Amino acid sequence: MAKFKKHNKFDGIFLSGYKETQKIYTVNLDFNKSVYGEKLLLDGDLQYREWNPFRSKLCAAIKCNARKIFINPSSKVLYLGASSGTTVSHVSDIVTKGIIYAIEFSSRSLRELVQNSVDRQNVIPILGDANQPHEYLKFITGAIDIIYMDVAQPNQSEILIKNAKMYLKPGVGKFIYTVKSRSIDSIASPKEIFAKEIKTLEENGLMVTDNVNITSFQTDHVVLFGRYQGL
Ligand SMILES: C[S@@+](CC[C@H](N)C(=O)[O-])C[C@H]1O[C@@H](n2cnc3c(N)ncnc32)[C@H](O)[C@@H]1O
Repeated sequence: MAKFKKHNKFDGIFLSGYKETQKIYTVNLDFNKSVYGEKLLLDGDLQYREWNPFRSKLCAAIKCNARKIFINPSSKVLYLGASSGTTVSHVSDIVTKGIIYAIEFSSRSLRELVQNSVDRQNVIPILGDANQPHEYLKFITGAIDIIYMDVAQPNQSEILIKNAKMYLKPGVGKFIYTVKSRSIDSIASPKEIFAKEIKTLEENGLMVTDNVNITSFQTDHVVLFGRYQGL
């Protein structure tokens, strides 16, 4: 039977196995439900869900040695680009005392997200366009601790900036931003695109504190972690 140990840096995340074969897990909040075909493993009273870094950029960033992921059991997360809820479900396992406002603009993906999170009380699926942050203001109560953004759109830094200005407290709020260079420009080099994205964020008060290259799991992607300083 697999032996699970707590991750030495991140609350709510567990490891099993050694070196190359080591896998990442969260504890299933929705017993016996597998969201995207991931393995479920019992250990005592707890059921662990294998977190696949090829399916989730946050997991890939953890595998690629992200220094901090900001998300902890009490976090209030605004998740932009929730899709059917693959990564949302693992974040939901972690934020057992927090909440996730999960924004998705495709009604088909939202339907799947609703089905996948019907028994997850900490997930609020919202049909909305992340370009229009005021659209979902009425669903959100209290301050947001972290914006997680994975929308794969050419204007994604603009989307993050708008949402940060509206929902994050300057000096306190954090962001996690997955950047796929080819969503922004299919011709320029990924290195140039990532540097330009970071510059644009910093000019708008979003300070990048960690830049994690996850190309070994998702081609031409980085995950940027940082803090909203305000202007
Ligand atoms: C790469 S997928 C997200 C995968 C998901 N974050 C995960 O890891 O499980 C990008 C998603 O963003 C959604 N999206 C793109 N633009 C959006 C927008 N302006 N507002 C809301 N959702 C958007 C797409 O419909 C798609 O489901």
